[in-house]
Amino acid sequence: MSAAPHTGNGKVTVPELLQRKTSAGNSPENSKKIVCLTAYDYPTARLLDEAGVDVILVGDSLAMVALGYDSTLPVTLDEMIHHARAVRRGTKHALLVADMPFGSYHSDTAESLRNAVRFVKEASVEAVKVEGGERRLELIARLTEAEIPVMGHIGLTPQSVNSLGGYRVQGKTTDSAEQLLRDARAVEAAGAFAVVLEAVPRELAAQITRELRIPTIGIGAGPDCDGQILVVHDMLGLTFDQTPKFARQYANLGETISKAVRGYCDDVRSGAFPSDRESYHSGSTSRKDDPVKISIC
Ligand code: KIV
Repeated sequence: MSAAPHTGNGKVTVPELLQRKTSAGNSPENSKKIVCLTAYDYPTARLLDEAGVDVILVGDSLAMVALGYDSTLPVTLDEMIHHARAVRRGTKHALLVADMPFGSYHSDTAESLRNAVRFVKEASVEAVKVEGGERRLELIARLTEAEIPVMGHIGLTPQSVNSLGGYRVQGKTTDSAEQLLRDARAVEAAGAFAVVLEAVPRELAAQITRELRIPTIGIGAGPDCDGQILVVHDMLGLTFDQTPKFARQYANLGETISKAVRGYCDDVRSGAFPSDRESYHSGSTSRKDDPVKISIC
């Protein structure tokens, strides 16, 4: 039997995730791997939560996979909060984390704190995620001190796309691997409760995972991290562009949706939808006609 993924009432909490790292054994039966996915709306959050995902991240990947931008940079704090509120309504058990979008934590610390507080007050998120290592030390410490748990994010940080010159694997040279180790240590020392490692060599991710007391969450960082995260649209086959090699596709909902919509188009055009059984009748006394549950537009 695998270890119980949740404690007590089933709610995943920050202390419980830290505890999992401390008490994790090596055997697969004791696996306490942390399962994370992104979500941006109520139905997806609810499905993920009910399926037993541990951490739901309202990622700023929202910009690309749900809003159609070609990077994460344009999404605003208000848009992130709007989506986080919807995800909150669908999330009962998982820990809810929201990405602080580009620009919302890049000026002074006081403003960054006010922005993080908005996520907690307006969307009831339980933690925020910020990208960057050593250079976020002061910010992470300030947020943590203000009782806002922080998830770090190092390696390929998509908000740095312009300075990195593209989306590339990080930490491949000795110098950049050493920088990543310093970043990981800094994020932990500042008080983060977990850190995302994105697009880094497996060997380096394993070394960071061994060194840190906080859990590492990998995305394109190999199997030795304490947990894994994927962008939900990638794993469900709901993206239009080529996905990175680490984004395993578990379903092809894009194809399912296209097929369903083509069927609907055909049926409306041919008159096959709606049928008589899907219609109401004047003067009918049938009780079946009474309860109408419709979405009101
Ligand atoms: O925005 C996002 O979805 C993320 C994950 C890929 C970690 O930051």
